[in-house]
Amino acid sequence: SIPSIQEVDCKYKSIILTFEKRAGWLTTSSLRNYKGFWLPEGLLPGTMVMEETFQSHPGDVIVASFPKSGTTWLKALTFTILHRNKYALSSHPLLKLNPHDCVRITEHSYATQDEQYLETLPSPRILGTHLPYSILPESITTSRCPIIYICREPKDVIVSLWHMITRYEGFNKSFPFTKAFELFCDGEMPFGPVWDHVSEYYMNSLHPCAKILFLKYEEMMKDPVNGVMKVANFIGCPFSEEEIKNGLVEEIVEFCSFNKLKDLDVNKTSGKGNVQNDYLFRKAVVGDWQNHMTPEMAIKLDNITKEKLHNSGFTY
Ligand code: A3P
Repeated sequence: SIPSIQEVDCKYKSIILTFEKRAGWLTTSSLRNYKGFWLPEGLLPGTMVMEETFQSHPGDVIVASFPKSGTTWLKALTFTILHRNKYALSSHPLLKLNPHDCVRITEHSYATQDEQYLETLPSPRILGTHLPYSILPESITTSRCPIIYICREPKDVIVSLWHMITRYEGFNKSFPFTKAFELFCDGEMPFGPVWDHVSEYYMNSLHPCAKILFLKYEEMMKDPVNGVMKVANFIGCPFSEEEIKNGLVEEIVEFCSFNKLKDLDVNKTSGKGNVQNDYLFRKAVVGDWQNHMTPEMAIKLDNITKEKLHNSGFTY
C-alpha cells in the first residue's frame, strides 16, 4: 500500500540531512546531492514524497527540462496546442497568466504541500518538472506518459541562469559570474550536472518503447513551426489539414513567441516568491554567451561538455 504523504515527508526530512551539501548560489537555499544530482534543499522532501507517492493519470503529459533551457516557452506551447479547442487565442488563459501558472512545477507543488492541486487539474493534465529522468516517479516512467524534454546549449544556460539568479532576493552579492561559471562546470547548480540531466533523457528517448520527445531550444528557435507540429503529433493532437491551411500553427507560434509573452502585463511584474515573472523573459538569443565569457571559458566548458556527453552519443 502507498504510505501517506505525511509519513513519507517526515521520514525524508531526517534522511536529507545526511546528504552531501553545498552552499549553492543563494544565501537562502543550499543544495543537497540526491542520486547524483544537486537539488535545492527546500525541494527535497517534496521531491522524495513525489517520487514515492505520485500517481499518473491516463492522458498526463509531462513537460521536462533543465532550468533555463526554454521551460517557459515549452509550457506555453504545450498548453496552447493541447487546449486549442477549449480556448480561443483572443481570450486565452495565457493572456492573463504566466505559463508557469498554467503548468506548474510538480515537485514545487509537493514541496509546498499543495499536491492536492494536481488532482484539481482537468484532464488531460500537463505537468511540469525539472527532475532528472532517474528521479521521476515510477508511475510516470512505467505508465509511459508522453514526456516532452527541452535542452539548451550549456554556455547559454549558465548565462541565462546567472542573469536570473542575480535578481533573486537571496542572491549573494559577492558572487561574480566567474565563480558561478566554475560551479556550473563542477555540476553544482540546481538540478545539475546539466550533462547528466540531458544524457539521461536523451538515452531514454532512444529506447524503442520510450515516449520522450527530445527537443533542442536552438532548433525550436530556428524552426518553431516544425517544433509546434512535432509537439502536437507527439501528444496525440496533430493539426488537421484545415487548421494548417488556416494558419493556426503560425498563429500559435506567434502567440507563444518571446516578444508577445514578454509584453503582456502579467509577465512584466507580478509573480510569487523569488521568481518574478519578468525574470523569465530576458533576451531569448542563441549564443548570448559570447557577451559574457572569455574564449578560454568557452573552450573549457565545451571540452567538459564533449567529455561528459561522449558516452551518450549526444551532441548539442
Ligand atoms: P535568456 O536568459 O537567454 O534570455 P526557462 O524558461 O527554462 O527558465 O528559460 C528561460 C530562457 O528562455 C530565457 O533565456 C528566456 O528569455 C527564454 N524565453 C522565455 N520565453 C521564451 C519564448 N517564448 N521563446 C523563446 N525563448 C524564451
